[in-house]
Amino acid sequence: MTLQGLTEDPCRSQPTPEERVSDQPSSTPNQPSDWEAGFGDNPFDEDTGFDQHEGAAALSGANWWRSAVFYQIYPKSFADGNGDGMGDLIGVRNRLDYLKLLGIDAIWLSPFYTSPMADGGYDVADPTDVDPMFGTLRDFDALVTDAHARGIKVTVDIVPNHFSDQHVWFQQALAAAPGSPERARFIFRDGKSPDGSEPPNNWPAMFGGSAWNRVPDGQWYLHLFAPEQPDLNWDNSEISAEFERILRFWMDRGVDGFRIDVAHSMAKPAGLPDMDLSHYNGPNTQLDPDLRFDQDGVHEHLRMFRRVLDTYPNRMAVGEAWVPDDKRLALYVRPDELHLTFNFRLVLAEWSAKDFQGAIDDSLTAMAEVGAPCTWVLSNHDVVRHTTRYGGGELGKARGRAAALVMLSLPGTAYLYNGDELGLENVDLPDEVLQDPTWERSGHTERGRDGERVPLPWEGVTPPFGFGSSQDSWLPMPAEWEFFTVEHELDDANSTLSLFREALGLRRGLAELHGSSFHWQQAPAGCLAYRRGPNLVVALNAGDTPVDLPPGEILLSSSPIEGDTLPPNTTVWLRV
Ligand code: NOJ
Repeated sequence: MTLQGLTEDPCRSQPTPEERVSDQPSSTPNQPSDWEAGFGDNPFDEDTGFDQHEGAAALSGANWWRSAVFYQIYPKSFADGNGDGMGDLIGVRNRLDYLKLLGIDAIWLSPFYTSPMADGGYDVADPTDVDPMFGTLRDFDALVTDAHARGIKVTVDIVPNHFSDQHVWFQQALAAAPGSPERARFIFRDGKSPDGSEPPNNWPAMFGGSAWNRVPDGQWYLHLFAPEQPDLNWDNSEISAEFERILRFWMDRGVDGFRIDVAHSMAKPAGLPDMDLSHYNGPNTQLDPDLRFDQDGVHEHLRMFRRVLDTYPNRMAVGEAWVPDDKRLALYVRPDELHLTFNFRLVLAEWSAKDFQGAIDDSLTAMAEVGAPCTWVLSNHDVVRHTTRYGGGELGKARGRAAALVMLSLPGTAYLYNGDELGLENVDLPDEVLQDPTWERSGHTERGRDGERVPLPWEGVTPPFGFGSSQDSWLPMPAEWEFFTVEHELDDANSTLSLFREALGLRRGLAELHGSSFHWQQAPAGCLAYRRGPNLVVALNAGDTPVDLPPGEILLSSSPIEGDTLPPNTTVWLRV
């Protein structure tokens, strides 16, 4: 599994949906009756403790996160409030009215903590302060106050696998002797060969090269990501005590929840044995299984997170765990662990009804077993934007819009990545501007993730499109984004932004979309359909030929509907 693609495709090892659910879409030729409702056994009507008739009212209670729409803000790229060409907290605060207008329920801020930015802020040097690049703690407090005043919850990133090498603890560890308590906060080991010049094991780092770095006295330290991100030793109780302090610090400042970075990586196997690398596919890929990730010991640490969160009302945590086995992923959201865990099956799915069905069906089944909602994702700061993945241009745009209407009508929680709502694509950036550590660490063979991190276009007709008052932005923005600015799209009833606003407005008001009820319906070849509650049907035509529209009153469609046909690459929401 990978941040940008897959080594082992989990879809291949799962039973097909047809094997498990009796009312699956069929592959028969298209005819009106192809869209018939199927009412066979269904695993998705389990009582998950959520009242589906509460509707949007539930968003303010203890279970607000169970069907919320979160909006991921990559702070460096969202909006520049101080004119230095980089996004910041003032920029976010200035744009809160836009987020309110969009209709999201909560924001997730990627790291804005003190950081030398060796990995876009995921190398944290002080987890309880704001980097001057992003502002101050006062800016943060003002942002929380203003967001809450608009009914928007605020969640922040927690990075428990590693600190920055500039964190005071790591500096102390470097200055201290092997075997010292300072070194015991990280994972220091002697080398393997008699002279210690071989790393302690053969683990590769996610960003390329060995996962071990040697320090002047000859010891090595583990870093699953960049060398500037030394892994913490979670076998040392000092680490859990420190993270309890960090969680409380932010909850005391009013944050509503956390996104836990690489939540599956904190526990390492005893003895740190070598990995079998015969199927290893290079940087940014995970094996299945992979000794670096998803060790059973991780769950005890996540239970600690939960115990701390439960001492505050209505708080939540979502885990980033790239765990290919849906059943193992579900272990992360058992009742005493995290509330949510990102589900990357839609990120990994090809554009096909079959792949989407498999992703949805497997995920709903696995999560229903532990009573947790699914947490759907199409894009984030680590993966190629879905509009690009689906082919780019008009085709990618149509598919991206259709996929969004699927995601936003599935049971559970949805995470949008800033710019999804504008239909932004990845940008092909010139070599000289690339900043992702993957680019250097892979010897310039992997371009990394800058293409999905280009600043957002807000207004005007030339770059940087109102991103800030500076003429520059930290990554260049393409001239054609003139037609993708917020200003431009707000004025266009057919824009992707208008579609998202309508979808989010409907989602908020439709009680069916806040419950767990979900039934597959029969659908023509290349299509899928499901019913939410008694009266809402969602139909996707992922094929390349038009099909007859299913019966019902159209509430929303991702492409214009003419006559009685559902065009290719289109999703409709229907009242039946
Ligand atoms: C996952 C984050 O999403 C990614 O951006 C980061 O590079 C790694 N974790 C390491 O923290």
